[in-house]
Amino acid sequence: MSAVPLLRVTGLEKSYNVPVLSDFNFELQCGEVHALVGSNGAGKSTFARILSGLTSPDGGEMQFNGRSYAPTSKRDAEHAGVIMVLQELNVIGTLSIAENIFLNRLPQRGGMIRYADLNEKAHQALTRVGLGELDPATPAGQLGVGHQQLIEIAGALSQNCHLLILDEPTAALTDPEIEQLFDNIRKLQAEGVGIIYVSHRMDEIRRIANRITVLRDGRHIATHNVDEITPTELIREMAGHDLPNSKPAGEKSLGPVALTVRNLRAGNRVNDVSFEVRQGEILGIAGLIGSGRTETLRAIFGADPKASGEILLQGRPVVIRSPVDAVRAGIGLIPEDRKQDGLLLSQPIRVNTTLGTLERHAGSGGWLDSDAEVKTSDIFCQQLQVRCASIEQPVGELSGGNQQKVVIARWLARDCGVLLFDEPTRGIDVAAKDTIYQLLRGLARDGKALVVVSSELIELMSLSDRIIVMCEGRIAAEFSASEWTQEKITQAAFSGFMTEKGASSS
Ligand SMILES: Nc1ncnc2c1ncn2[C@@H]1O[C@H](COP(=O)(O)OP(=O)(O)OP(=O)(O)O)[C@@H](O)[C@H]1O
Ligand SMILES: [Mg+2]
Repeated sequence: MSAVPLLRVTGLEKSYNVPVLSDFNFELQCGEVHALVGSNGAGKSTFARILSGLTSPDGGEMQFNGRSYAPTSKRDAEHAGVIMVLQELNVIGTLSIAENIFLNRLPQRGGMIRYADLNEKAHQALTRVGLGELDPATPAGQLGVGHQQLIEIAGALSQNCHLLILDEPTAALTDPEIEQLFDNIRKLQAEGVGIIYVSHRMDEIRRIANRITVLRDGRHIATHNVDEITPTELIREMAGHDLPNSKPAGEKSLGPVALTVRNLRAGNRVNDVSFEVRQGEILGIAGLIGSGRTETLRAIFGADPKASGEILLQGRPVVIRSPVDAVRAGIGLIPEDRKQDGLLLSQPIRVNTTLGTLERHAGSGGWLDSDAEVKTSDIFCQQLQVRCASIEQPVGELSGGNQQKVVIARWLARDCGVLLFDEPTRGIDVAAKDTIYQLLRGLARDGKALVVVSSELIELMSLSDRIIVMCEGRIAAEFSASEWTQEKITQAAFSGFMTEKGASSS
C-alpha cells in the first residue's frame, strides 16, 4: 500500500452531551474498500457525517490526500471529491428522478435548466445502477424505497469522486441490485477511489471489503484484513462480549385462519393477490424490489386504495378504507420507511412509542396518564435495547437503527392480532436483530398472525413458517419450510420475467 493514505484521521472527538466519538483513528488507502462496523449508536454515521461536512468534530485531525482536511459544508466536501450516500433517504418526492440525481448541479444556460441535456445525463446515470428503463422525468416520490436508494447512489456515482462513503447502502436492496452496486464499487476501486462502507451485513462485508474497522461506543477497537477475522470474532468485538445462542423456535401449534386476503388488486403493483395467515403463524413474503410486496401490505392496511378484493378477519369480511379502519379492526403495519410513515422526529421516544395507544394511557377524565405512558415506553425500550439518553430524548437524535426499534416498539405496545412487518430489521445491528427475531417469534407464539416482508432471504427463511414469493404483483410460488431453498425462492422471484421473455420471443 502507498505511503501516504488517501485519508488519515487521528484522535477524532465528537460529543452530544455524551461522547459519541473518542480518540478515533482511521486510515483509508486509494482503491481500498474499508468497512466500518459497530452496533446501533456506535458512531458510524457520525463519523461519516463529519467526513462529508455535515457535522463538525470537537477535536482531532483529518488529512485527505496528504493535506489538512476540515470541510465546513457538504458542498465543501463534495468540492474536494468526498461524496456520501446518507443512511436516511433524502430523495425529494416532488422533483423528477433526473432533478434528484443532479440536484445542485443542474445543467443551465442563461438561467434556464436544459431538460433535454439533464434527462440524457440522468439516463446514463440510471443505466449505471441498472435502472435504464426508468423515465428520468418521473417524480421520484412514485418510486419505492429500494429504487430511491438506487437513485441516491446514481447521484453519488455521477460526481467527481475520490472518496465515496456509503452508509448502509444495501439496506433496502435485494440481491440483484446489490450485485449491480458491487460491480460499480469494483469499477471505482479500479479507478483508485477509496470507499468507506458502513453495513450490518457481515456476508456483504466479507465479499466487498479489503479491511474492516470495528467501532464500539465511539472508540476504535480494531482494524483487520478481511480474511483474517471470522464473523463470530467480529460480532464479539462489536458487542464487547459473545452473543447468547439464539433459541430454536420450539414446537408451536397454529390456530384458525386469522387473516384472509382474496383477489386483492391495488394500483399497478398488486395484481390479484390471495393468501391466508393463521394465528401463531409467520408468513414471509419474498420478491424483488418493485414486485408488489410493500404495496400489498399497504393495500391490506388501507394506506393505499384497493381496486378490488376482500379482506377477512377470522373469516368475517371487514371494510378497510384507511389505516384508522385497519387499526380498529386489529391490524398493524410497521412500515419500511420510518421517516415518511413512522416517526415524529422532534418528539421524545416516550411520545413516539405510545402514540398508537393513547386511549390506553388515558386516565380518569380523559387526561393522559403519563405514569402509564412512561412505563410502557420503558418496557419496550429495554426489551429492544434502544440506545438513548432517556425516553425523553427526541427520536431525531437517535441513530438510524435505534429509530427503527422505536417504530417497532410503538406497534408492540398496541397489541394487534394481525401484524404486517415491512423490512423489520432494516438498519438494525446483528445483536439487536436477534432480539427482534425472538420478539417476532414470541408474538407468534402468543397467537398473533404475522406477515413479514424482507429483502434478506436468510432472515425470511429463519423466521417464517411459510414463504410466498411475489413477482410482478402476483404470487409466483409458495413454499413450506421443508420445501424452500434459496435457489428455489430466487428462481420464483424472477419467474415472471422469464415467462415474459419467453412470450416475446415466440
Ligand atoms: N444530533 C444529535 N443529538 C444528540 N445525539 C446524537 C445526535 N446525533 C447522533 N447522536 C447520538 O450519537 C450516537 C451515535 O449515533 P450514530 O448515528 O453515529 O450511530 P451509528 O453507529 O450510525 O448507528 P446505526 O447503526 O444505528 O446507524 C447515538 O447514541 C446517537 O443517539
Ligand atoms: Mg448510522
